[in-house]
Amino acid sequence: MPTAVEVAPSILAADFACLGDAIRAVESGGVTTLHVDVMDGHFVPNISIGVPVVASLRKATRLTLDVHLMIENPEQYIEAFAAAGADMISVHQEATPHLDRALGMIREHGCKPGAVINPATPVATLSEVLDKLDHVLVMSVNPGFGGQAFIPGALGKIRQLQELRRSYNYAFRIEVDGGIGPENVAQVVRAGAQILVAGTSVFHTPDPAQAVRSMIQQASEALAQRV
Ligand code: DX5
Ligand code: ZN
Repeated sequence: MPTAVEVAPSILAADFACLGDAIRAVESGGVTTLHVDVMDGHFVPNISIGVPVVASLRKATRLTLDVHLMIENPEQYIEAFAAAGADMISVHQEATPHLDRALGMIREHGCKPGAVINPATPVATLSEVLDKLDHVLVMSVNPGFGGQAFIPGALGKIRQLQELRRSYNYAFRIEVDGGIGPENVAQVVRAGAQILVAGTSVFHTPDPAQAVRSMIQQASEALAQRV
């Protein structure tokens, strides 16, 4: 029996002046995890939010805070994000020559470690750390911006990870991020994804609570078909 699937709204697509309202809306839609995109203008060509915003989110909600670091030198900031209240911290495979060390640091600071792979990065680059991961985040867009189209190549990577997890009994969850919405929820869940990050398809709708509710429903129907 596969574990339940979660929809993790990405606040990147919310109105930053009204984050409290955005959080309450998705909480009432039944989500348990909030995805927080941190961008530094170097690793990705955009700047978003940093440690103080994570600290404010922590005060505003008990949802799991899933912090996605799209930054260079992620090791330098792990302690600060952990202290600010992150529950999950993901670092890009491409952003550090010391992925193993970074993952160890995340765990030492009491958070769940995740590794992220860009669309051009093969699953095989994570083979030596798969046993150390709480989650693998498969990018289904090139990171840096919300509102981009889903890259179908992500499906093959999710299937590969699902197969590795099954064959070797790994504990990691599979997360997918970018261009996720009602049109592809079933596909990514059937491929093996368990955490679906969704920004535009949640917050750029008239009713974000209803948007997450209906994606959660779609995801659980797709999961039932997978059993
Ligand atoms: C992209 C971010 C995503 C993004 C998803 O760099 O990592 O989390 O906010 O947004 P949508 O769902 O709009 O593609
Ligand atoms: Zn993200």
